This record gives sequence, C-alpha cells and structure tokens, in this order.
Amino acid sequence: MEKIVILTGAGISAESGISTFRDEGGLWAQHAIEDVATPEAFRRDPDLVHRFYNARRAQAAEVAPNAAHLALARLQERHRGEVVLVTQNVDALHEAAGSRAVLHMHGALAGALCARCEARWPAPMVMATRDACPICGAAATRPDIVWFGEMPYGMEAIWQHLEEADVFAAIGTSGNVYPAAAFAQHAGRAGAQTIELNLEASQNTRDFAETRLGRASVIVPEWVDAVLGN
Ligand code: OAD
Repeated sequence: MEKIVILTGAGISAESGISTFRDEGGLWAQHAIEDVATPEAFRRDPDLVHRFYNARRAQAAEVAPNAAHLALARLQERHRGEVVLVTQNVDALHEAAGSRAVLHMHGALAGALCARCEARWPAPMVMATRDACPICGAAATRPDIVWFGEMPYGMEAIWQHLEEADVFAAIGTSGNVYPAAAFAQHAGRAGAQTIELNLEASQNTRDFAETRLGRASVIVPEWVDAVLGN
C-alpha cells in the first residue's frame, strides 16, 4: 500500500485566518525573528516573547479548520496505506479537523515547557514569565515552540518516514526553513513521487516533480479526491 508523507506550513491555515510568516504583511514583517523566536530573545526579554505567543494563541483559539485540513483528515481516514502528517504549524487545526498523530515538528501553542527542567504541560491561554514550573518550581516557563537555532522535534522518525514514502506532498510552505525545506529532496532521492501544493512556487520548487498552484482550500481537496480515486 502506498505510504504518503505530508508536510504542511502556514499556508494551509491562512484561509482559516491565521497569519503566515513571509507573505506581504506576514508575522516576520511585523516582528523581528531575533526579538521573539530565538532562545536568546527569551533570555533577553521573556515578557515580549510571551506577549507574542499569547497573541498567537488567542488568534488560534478563534479559528476553525478549513477545507484543506478537513481533506487531509479524510485522506488519513480513508487511504488504505499509511498517511504521516508532519506540520510546521503550531496551531491545532489539523487535530480540530480530526487528524490523528500529527507530528508538530516546530512545537505547539498548546504546550508549555520548563526551560530549566524540560517538563511539559498544557499551556494556559495566557503565559507569563513569573509562571512557575509545576515540577521544579522554576519561573522559567516558556512556550513549547521550537525556536530558530533549536532542533525540531521528531526528526529521526521523520527522516525515516521520508525514506519509506511512496508519495511526499508539501502544502502551504515557502521552503525557507530547514530542515523542513530539505524533505522534498530527501524523499525524492529515496524514490518518492514529490508534489507541492502552494499559492505560489516555493523556494525549493525544483525539488518537486510536480507543482500545483492555488488556494489550499481548493487544491488540497482536489488532490485528496484524486489520491482516493473519487
Ligand atoms: P511561510 O509564511 O514562510 O510561507 C507560507 C506559504 O504559504 C507561502 O509560500 C505562501 O505562498 C503560501 N500560502 C499563503 N496562503 C496560501 C493559501 N491560501 N493556500 C496555499 N498556500 C498559501 O510559512 P512556512 O513555510 O510555514 O517557524 O514557514 C516555515 C517556518 O518559518 C514556520 O514554521 C515558522 C517560521 O519562522 C518557526 O517559527 C520556528
């Protein structure tokens, strides 16, 4: 049975109302990465970093999955082979659409992490620097988000999945951030068919055998229907 590995990025959640990072007016046009999304930024000004992610969490709580998230959940449910869903997104829209076992390689807004003892627990809606870790008591609570300069989660399993993939699809990601931007080349070299589904061609578009351009809410359900043979 065909094994399908999917990587999603901010573009799949854009039509749900979540800001992307690099589109015009995106998050990285409004905030400098080095101010809010690095371990150094958190050490320098944890209040600013918490404010940034509290705002992201508040935005994510108000939105609903769109037709693209729902289509991928349908694919996971109906495809006879394995469907591995890896996301760079920190929202929970894949889960809200019914997807199971989503690999959040860049962490999740729903999680809190102790920078001292590495304990993890569900994040409250509003996090603050003075919040104490429930395990060690340190006031070193941070969002469980993978920042620039940190190692994404689950990489060993993800590389393995890419090597076993018959099909690799990247959806709504600009191909700027590694290691995710290297997945297409890795899967392609291991023999997978590679396809990108995006609004515009990504930075690494040449790594894909096929490109389909359009809005995720339109082109992802079409692709899923074709894979399922509908
Ligand atoms: P980007 O903001 O870099 O790219 C979003 C992509 O989605 C772009 O290529 C857009 O063309 C596309 N897009 C926008 N609207 C779309 C729509 N309606 N349908 C389909 N595609 C659409 O976001 P990512 O590639 O996810 O990491 O960014 C990767 C990582 O960089 C993020 O996980 C985050 C960020 O810095 C960290 O914060 C560690």
